[in-house]
Amino acid sequence: MKRLPSPYGEIVIAEKETLFDSFTSMIRDSVKEVTYPPGVALTGGSTPKDYFRWLADHPDKLPEAKENVVFTVSDERYVPLESDESNYGNAMRMFLDPVGIIDDHRYFWDTSRDPVDAARWYQQLWELSFGEDATYDICMLGMGGDCHTASLFPGSPLLEQLDDSGDNFASVLVPDKGERLTITPRGLKRCGRIVIFVLGEGKAEAVKKIFRGDENTPVSEIPVRLFKHFPEKVTWLMDGAATSLL
Ligand code: 6PG
Repeated sequence: MKRLPSPYGEIVIAEKETLFDSFTSMIRDSVKEVTYPPGVALTGGSTPKDYFRWLADHPDKLPEAKENVVFTVSDERYVPLESDESNYGNAMRMFLDPVGIIDDHRYFWDTSRDPVDAARWYQQLWELSFGEDATYDICMLGMGGDCHTASLFPGSPLLEQLDDSGDNFASVLVPDKGERLTITPRGLKRCGRIVIFVLGEGKAEAVKKIFRGDENTPVSEIPVRLFKHFPEKVTWLMDGAATSLL
């Protein structure tokens, strides 16, 4: 395992299974660190699915999960939970249901409401349980080849929301992808810890652009560079393929 500092958070490079193990340890540690069941956000895309499969093969790695952790997702597509496109729905089918996470610890975005109301409702749900202005203890994220994370895509108006007047969670219309619900940069800033998984050679060019590219390229073009505002909270878990051009 290799560790490197960066302006956007600490980089950890290792084999995928080792990274899954590290992330699982972070969840276990968070249960010990706080006096309430910590809020852990999972995410969408292929990486969490791989992680759920790995967890299914290693059932002893997270015994705390069943009763001591609240699980949600950091962003959601605007579809019913039953859909294969639903981030929470996939987490439920592949992880929460098989492990038997208790009902009180399942916090999902209610996509039966209209988008603005769904984001507001989710923010209230979170605040009622975790306190005013609270977001996640641990936020798992992935990154697309265009450097988006959660549903914060290049050019998103949400990328400017870091100051105290904005929301922690919001709905956003993403060109060509439709309506999404997502944690905002402001919400990310309020997380205890952010863990971003970047795996596979398909991400190598993007990784090079972030860490070796022109440092003046704006966050509106490289959304994950928003982490420059709170790098101490961020850990990049990446494999050799994703970092091959670094
Ligand atoms: C989503 C995600 C998105 C995802 C990245 C990486 O709903 O798709 O929230 O931000 O994490 O696109 O996806 P992969 O894990 O498939 O590379």
